[in-house]
Amino acid sequence: MAAAGGWAAKIMAKPEIKVYPDAQELARAAAQHFAEGAVRAVQRQGHFSVALSGGSTPRAIYALLGGDAYTGLDWSRIHIFWGDERCVPPDHPDSNYRMARESLLDHIAIPKHNIHRIKGEVRPENAGREYDHELRTFFARKGWSADFLGTQTAALRGFQTFDLILLGLGDDGHTASLFPGAPALEVTDRWAIAVDHAQPPPPLVARVSLTLPVINAAAQVTFIVSGGGKTRRLNQVLAPPQSSEPPLPAQLIQPGEGRLLWLVDKDTRG
Ligand code: 6PG
Repeated sequence: MAAAGGWAAKIMAKPEIKVYPDAQELARAAAQHFAEGAVRAVQRQGHFSVALSGGSTPRAIYALLGGDAYTGLDWSRIHIFWGDERCVPPDHPDSNYRMARESLLDHIAIPKHNIHRIKGEVRPENAGREYDHELRTFFARKGWSADFLGTQTAALRGFQTFDLILLGLGDDGHTASLFPGAPALEVTDRWAIAVDHAQPPPPLVARVSLTLPVINAAAQVTFIVSGGGKTRRLNQVLAPPQSSEPPLPAQLIQPGEGRLLWLVDKDTRG
């Protein structure tokens, strides 16, 4: 992968890591990080675009954002997307949308058109194509020239996509639904893509995921990692790359112009 040389050099750059005493303090810090980013973006450009992470870690963060501490957030200016989704119906226990709806969306006054759900209930290829189109349409409104939207997303360099992307880390080193060795890691001409997923970690269902160029074109990418026996994997991801090993998907998250931040709890950092 041409970028491999680049990613190795970039990984050598010291990652920005903040360690919190426990999962609760981590969630508080992550919620504050989200809120501060939202306020700054709305003041600067009138809106804030964020891609939520799935899995279980972010639930506590979203619950804080939907609670009393953040009633001052102007959700009419905030556009919510997802970094990935399992191809299940939106009311399915494995749905990332359902987790966000229960913990956050049901508790805030956000216009329906600000929620850009990945349609897990339709055929994965169709869900991927629809989400890809929704992303291109939304970011076209940011005033970018139409020709950019039709070209290889490698042309994202110099453009900013999301103001913030929240990511988790799987204990196999995946992030979003970009799994080790997956063909999706090589895709540069789509904003979103359907991926098969038949090997652990569960759930073993097809997914839709943002692609690497879109994630790496965000202004701010923030990993939130807590518990679940991830210490070894986290330290591997943050360590200088072993030339013999192919990079883990989480190591390929290297925002070009953007900022990369790791928010972790003490147990996980080890
Ligand atoms: C998903 C997620 C995935 C997740 C990691 C960590 O849909 O599963 O997007 O990338 O963030 O697997 O998950 P936990 O927070 O549950 O450990």
